[in-house]
Amino acid sequence: MRFKGKVALVTGGSRGIGRAISLRFASEGANIVLNFFRNRSAAEATMAEIKSRGVEVLEARGNIGNPQGVDKIFAKIKEQFGKLDILVSNAALGSFTPALDIDDQAWDLAMEVNAKAYLHCVQRAKEMMPSGGKIVAITSLGSQRYIKGYGSIAVSKAAIETLTRYLAVELAPQRINVNTVCGGFIDTEALRSLPAFENLKQQVITRTPGERLGRPEDIADVVTFLCSEDSRWITGQTIIVDGGFSLT
Ligand SMILES: NC(=O)c1ccc[n+]([C@@H]2O[C@H](COP(=O)([O-])OP(=O)(O)OC[C@H]3O[C@@H](n4cnc5c(N)ncnc54)[C@H](OP(=O)(O)O)[C@@H]3O)[C@@H](O)[C@H]2O)c1
Repeated sequence: MRFKGKVALVTGGSRGIGRAISLRFASEGANIVLNFFRNRSAAEATMAEIKSRGVEVLEARGNIGNPQGVDKIFAKIKEQFGKLDILVSNAALGSFTPALDIDDQAWDLAMEVNAKAYLHCVQRAKEMMPSGGKIVAITSLGSQRYIKGYGSIAVSKAAIETLTRYLAVELAPQRINVNTVCGGFIDTEALRSLPAFENLKQQVITRTPGERLGRPEDIADVVTFLCSEDSRWITGQTIIVDGGFSLT
């Protein structure tokens, strides 16, 4: 019960990787603020699973890419808990297109929901973490390597990793650790919805020394480590969690 009594906000906490992170924190005693946007039934199912672990869950529906939506979420947290201990910036959106074909709409969507939302959440979280806290953002290998069609999302993920280093230095005096977990290919609905999923899956498994796709729990375990006391001397880092895929 490493997180007993703590309050953790997980953006996009209803499905996929965010769901695994929310459940992992709940299993270790944290009260969860669950943000989602479009899929209410998935959120309700995850909230029921969280409650069954004996902790509180606060529903925080809203578009994380909208600053007013972010303000409302933090106002709710303040009202219900009066504090925040952990922020996991996980929600992401974006469209697939060759880099040369990215239009303003695709660029702005990825930057707003992924990178700008991270900054906005951290700016508000800081006010609710007066005596320390933990912040983790989720990125992907596209921030550092070429993934076909991934350009607009990749740029937003690179922005997150750079921002993490700046935030880590500026928030260190307030005893807030800020890190990024950069995932390889993880078996979620988002990945399965890609038209070339089966082909991609085989390629990834063949190239991965760990010989499988990543699982949401692989990411959740590292996120909880980075939010625990054990990682107190780690800040500003991007930890790659990909079973060795990026080594080959
Ligand atoms: N899957 C992978 O292979 C992989 C690899 C590396 C990193 N990642 C990263 O891991 C994170 C989660 O990915 P995933 O595969 O778990 O995605 P997913 O299954 O599509 O889940 C996305 C989650 O984000 C929420 N969300 C999306 N847009 C939102 C918005 N504007 N405001 C609030 N919530 C929003 C969704 O809620 P609603 O459904 O209610 O909208 C959902 O809970 C992302 O940052 C992604 O880039 C994924």
